[in-house]
Amino acid sequence: MAGRIPPQFIDDLLARTDIVELIGGRIQLRKGGKDFQARCPFHDEKSPSFTVSPEKQFYHCFGCGAHGTAIGFLMEYDRLGFREAIEDLARRAGLEVPTEGAPAPAGPDHAPLYAVLEQAAQLYRRQLREHPQAPQAVEYLKSRGLSGEIAARYGVGFAPSGWDFLLSRLGADPAGRERLAQAGLITEQDGKRYDRFRDRIMFPIRDRRGRVIGFGARVLGDAKPKYLNSPETPVFHKGRELYGLYEVAQTRRKPERVLVVEGYLDVIALAQFGIDYAVATLGTATTADHLQVLLRSAPELVFCFDGDRAGRGAAWKALEAALPLATGNQSLRFLFLPDGEDPDTLVRAEGQAAFEQRVKSATPLSTFLFDQLKDTVGDMISGDGRARLVALAEPLIEKVPVGIYRNMLNGQLAELAKLSPEPLRRPSPPRRGAAQPRRPTRPSRVAQAIALLLDHPELAGEAAAEPPDWRRSDSPGVQILVELLDSIAAYPAINKARLIERWREHPHFDYLRRLSVAPFLDDIPLDGLAAELTGALQGLSKDVRDADRLRPLNRRSTADWSDEMREQMDRDAEQARTRRR
Ligand code: UTP
Ligand code: MN
Repeated sequence: MAGRIPPQFIDDLLARTDIVELIGGRIQLRKGGKDFQARCPFHDEKSPSFTVSPEKQFYHCFGCGAHGTAIGFLMEYDRLGFREAIEDLARRAGLEVPTEGAPAPAGPDHAPLYAVLEQAAQLYRRQLREHPQAPQAVEYLKSRGLSGEIAARYGVGFAPSGWDFLLSRLGADPAGRERLAQAGLITEQDGKRYDRFRDRIMFPIRDRRGRVIGFGARVLGDAKPKYLNSPETPVFHKGRELYGLYEVAQTRRKPERVLVVEGYLDVIALAQFGIDYAVATLGTATTADHLQVLLRSAPELVFCFDGDRAGRGAAWKALEAALPLATGNQSLRFLFLPDGEDPDTLVRAEGQAAFEQRVKSATPLSTFLFDQLKDTVGDMISGDGRARLVALAEPLIEKVPVGIYRNMLNGQLAELAKLSPEPLRRPSPPRRGAAQPRRPTRPSRVAQAIALLLDHPELAGEAAAEPPDWRRSDSPGVQILVELLDSIAAYPAINKARLIERWREHPHFDYLRRLSVAPFLDDIPLDGLAAELTGALQGLSKDVRDADRLRPLNRRSTADWSDEMREQMDRDAEQARTRRR
């Protein structure tokens, strides 16, 4: 992969980027005071709580807490990776992204593959209107209940019969044929090349950025194989891609939930019925890669499977892949359909509302987990049966990241097995009502100072004027505070966005970013910010000096106490007495 991007370049790039322009190009911003407001693109809301600050070059939603820089916005809104976001911003700024250290080996250039796949998709789409066989294909889509509008949204096309539809159009020269072969659009047998997809309905598979990377292709009738799919190619990896994810993102920014189904036509049929937040794996089991992408897409995931044995098996695979990522921050649930139904047939039979009712009452991961294990064990009455349950459950629960959710699973297990929770690594089941937001407490002094500086780098001068005793503090985070001040001293005109991005590779980046929008900051009037910062530093300094005074006392015997210290002790004791009175 390409090497590291030099921090200086990122800093320059941000200095040349205007976040207002960037975000304003995607959603409508309205000026209010010195900032800009909008309805938040990351959650549904009626009144605008999304703010973009030109001065800080930072956005923040007071409703859902989304926040970040121009880079963060592209990563969230356009679902780009960090490097992709940088590349996007660099393109706008007319800059070339440099890499640090040894020049990265130039990765293979996939642009010609994307281009030929896009051309193929367009050709297939056009055949649905123009080809002599088109009426047959259109008739088939209609018989499946699909409107022209939905077919267009998913870019559905038609590959006519014959051996060389694509080959003759896109493979006129050897280079063209090579591209077609690499893109998986033609195959070769006995030295003869021909189109892979013939006489089939074509479903283009697009990546998160909307580029066509492959196809699923269905026969019009009952012939076998029902589906042909693109083979793995340099741009198409089945285990990583999800059919329909791009289309979901096009219709809904940050959907509330994503429904994961098994078939192309399930996705499209659901969309036809207004359930436009479904995606499908590409004929493979749900992988960890899928889950990672999915968890970034929505706060709630519902996996939809057939109710039969195979469906349960597939669901269990998804569950196993999900355990290492289950933190309880996101809801993971399972929906089992009645035997013989798939989402397509079911939504058609019972309509949107009834189907969505099923989605809403889908089974939580923990319930599915324990139900399935209880099924396996069978006997839950005897001690042996319950011990078996524990033996089966423990290695699974072990995969869950340490935290509240894992504790909760352990608590549930203890309850099911009728064990005292003690032997099960002290689960602490969540208290009732724990979901209610706690009144935010103020962070520690160091954290307050860090938050104030991140949000208002211009306050650094105030900090520099303070006596430096606090720098010797061993409170966690002091080193970060020192480095933060050094950064600002080196770039006195730095804004919040540039300052924060300097920390992106730091292990505590997420924490720092969240700290920079900590609620306590909103309670401080603008003209009180400097006093808050100096107050925090003075408090730290005082702690350091107190510790200085106590340290020798702890170490030496009283015989060593100097007169000066003795006097100080007397003064302290006197003070303590007056305070008590
Ligand atoms: P299904 O058989 O459930 O297909 O396979 P479907 O999408 O519901 O299609 P219809 O309703 O019969 O037209 C689910 C998925 O498994 C993969 C495809 O990705 C399909 O969408 N599959 C299935 C194949 O790759 N090849 C096949 O032959 C069958
Ligand atoms: Mn089906």
